[in-house]
Amino acid sequence: MSTIHVRRLRLGAALVLLTYLILHFSNHALGIISLDAMAAGRWWFLALWRSTPGTLALYGALVIHGLLALWLLYQRRTLRMPAWEATQYALGLMLPALLVVHVVGTRIAWWRLGVDDPYTRIVLTLWVQAPEYGARQTLTLVLAWLHACIGVHFWLRFRPWYPRVRLTLFTVALLLPTLALLGFVAAGREVAALARTPGWTEAMLAAAHAPAPAVAAKLVAIRQGFLTAYLWALLAVLLARGIRRLQEWRRAVRITYPSGRVVAVPVGFTILDASRMADIPHASVCGGRGRCSTCRVRISHGLAQLPAATEAERRVLARVGAAPDVRLACQTRPPRDVTVEPLLAPSVAPADAFGTDLRQGHEQEVAVLFADLRGFTRMAEHKLPYDVVFFLNRYFEAVGSAITSAGGVTNQFTGDGVMALFGIEAGPATGSRQALAAARAMVQGVATLSAELAGDLPAPMRIGIGIHAGPAVVGRMGWGESFYLTAVGDTVHVAARLEQATKDHGAELVVSEDVARHAGLDLSAFPTQDLAVRNRAGRVGVRIIPHVADLPLQFL
Ligand code: FES
Repeated sequence: MSTIHVRRLRLGAALVLLTYLILHFSNHALGIISLDAMAAGRWWFLALWRSTPGTLALYGALVIHGLLALWLLYQRRTLRMPAWEATQYALGLMLPALLVVHVVGTRIAWWRLGVDDPYTRIVLTLWVQAPEYGARQTLTLVLAWLHACIGVHFWLRFRPWYPRVRLTLFTVALLLPTLALLGFVAAGREVAALARTPGWTEAMLAAAHAPAPAVAAKLVAIRQGFLTAYLWALLAVLLARGIRRLQEWRRAVRITYPSGRVVAVPVGFTILDASRMADIPHASVCGGRGRCSTCRVRISHGLAQLPAATEAERRVLARVGAAPDVRLACQTRPPRDVTVEPLLAPSVAPADAFGTDLRQGHEQEVAVLFADLRGFTRMAEHKLPYDVVFFLNRYFEAVGSAITSAGGVTNQFTGDGVMALFGIEAGPATGSRQALAAARAMVQGVATLSAELAGDLPAPMRIGIGIHAGPAVVGRMGWGESFYLTAVGDTVHVAARLEQATKDHGAELVVSEDVARHAGLDLSAFPTQDLAVRNRAGRVGVRIIPHVADLPLQFL
């Protein structure tokens, strides 16, 4: 069975168990109303889960989820993993041992021995007769819920819509077990009151066919049998891991990282396993499940010897437009020495999963904006360094927020200069309109700041802005943690030249005809010029806008 099928099967099983848990909690929560409401809810609950399809789905999901968990434990080459994943694993491995008591005492007792398990009998046991079991059962359900919530969070967090619903889901995740717990407490009190009525307990236990001592002993034996089998299965997996480890260490491969560090790992380890084993920070937003693409690496040596990517890996790589020499570190097990280069910063956020592979750079049409503050150098000469820093930070705040509000990406703040990109996602038409809107907001922001700081300024501040649109190579550039999105190429060069031209013409804005065309804007009312650009054949047609406020408004 391929990895993709295993993954789907596991997800399907997990979703069945999650549905069961949600309905179980909802049924408990009815205890807030009354025991009768709980019993009525239980009728529907059992109609679903004790029907033949419900039974097959539930117990099939339990078996599949459990077996796949053991299989994945065997498959993992290293047990080093992020804290969230370790928590989910630990909870998952504990749950079968904790749940077996309840499952055998209810479902198995009903199925094999004809013992009924109405809420009254179960709550009497857990609340009145053996509250320590009640505490353990409550803890078990909370841990199962936590295990499920971690799984859901790490499953959904790459979805673009997830940030919008995260708070709602978090509220539900808190509310549901809380209500279930309150329902259990309310039911416990109600049953405790009923149990004080002479004869009620005996009558209820008789009606439910409560297990006689011999039957109870049988149930304990079933429970013990399950626990022993589970522990043996766990031990067998750990033993198999140990044997495999001994065999694998006979043949090691060397993985070389960009820093020059070489990590030797047994054949069979993934590249991500190697990074984790050697404590090399490596992005792995989905925890090495081949879902997020953030672990991707460029193989600069040894690509030909790597086993072909599975269908699942190929799909993920295709989704991010990865180059042929790029592989998922969590899915690639080098049989020979390789040299790798992680393509995303270790601190990458879930939102970057499946983003275009900007680290590799690619050519696209964008609008590029350059801005510069007039006379800043002269003004700074007469100010204390702290004042200059304060002033610049206020200025960058004003222009930076204008750029991001319009949909752009601020890219460089050098001295008093700013570079920004527009249309990376939306294309040059939207990008050009956004850049023009940003220009107008920047001029307004600088005017407002100028008025605020009028007492400290020799003259009102003025800004010069140049905008050009065209093809550029866009990508994340930098090193280590210091990656930023930027663009290089002729378009950037021209945009910088247009910003300089604003000085020559005493204008607030100079835009290329290409920007006007992309934006669908008629700028024929403004003076035109063919501008020479150094090291560039051909001239650039531009429009000179003395005051940005005079731009026609229809593009906004
Ligand atoms: S860690 Fe997510 S795909 Fe490799």
